[in-house]
Amino acid sequence: MSKRVVLGVTGSIAAYKAAELVRRMTAKSWDVWVMMTEAATKYVGPLTFHALTGHPVAAGKCEALPTAAFQHLDLASCDALVIAPCTANVLAKLAVGLADDIVTATALACTAPLVVAPAMNDKMWRHPATQANVAMLRQRGVRLLDVEHGELACGMVGAGRLTDLEIILTEVARALGT
Ligand SMILES: Cc1cc2nc3c(=O)[nH]c(=O)nc-3n(C[C@H](O)[C@H](O)[C@H](O)COP(=O)(O)O)c2cc1C
Repeated sequence: MSKRVVLGVTGSIAAYKAAELVRRMTAKSWDVWVMMTEAATKYVGPLTFHALTGHPVAAGKCEALPTAAFQHLDLASCDALVIAPCTANVLAKLAVGLADDIVTATALACTAPLVVAPAMNDKMWRHPATQANVAMLRQRGVRLLDVEHGELACGMVGAGRLTDLEIILTEVARALGT
């Protein structure tokens, strides 16, 4: 049976890279479902992910979703949960256990391995608050990948780029035990 992988996409400029990530995940015959924060939908349309996965996309607040009432619990029932790209905001919410939208509510309800690939401006990444959240999540067993150093969308050069998609895929495969 194919592995069920749920991908959370958040409001980073790197959200467009999630479309290619999904394409490579489906090429591995994983059953991929996508959920998005409301901010993420400003960067990439849910229709893109719906078309790539063949599944409807849940986005925004849980109570505003048009489909199943307990969609966060349904999505939480997966073999691996991936959040890529993950904003500083969602990273912070994961660290303290907030659950105010479909991505964070699903993450809180999920017992499957969690792979997180952050992406943000270098100052946001280096901020002590973000670094404390990263340390806390890693200590809790979250497979939190490093960011890459390089040219950032904001025009700066520094640490904050979404890591290479192959690194994310390798970590997810490891989490799935495949
Ligand atoms: C053009 C643009 C690009 C952004 N890129 C990032 C980013 O890469 N990482 C990040 O943490 N926040 C980024 N932000 C800020 C987030 O979009 C903002 O914090 C938003 O509230 C995040 O919502 P979410 O975490 O619910 O997806 C960006 C904002 C703008 C306007």
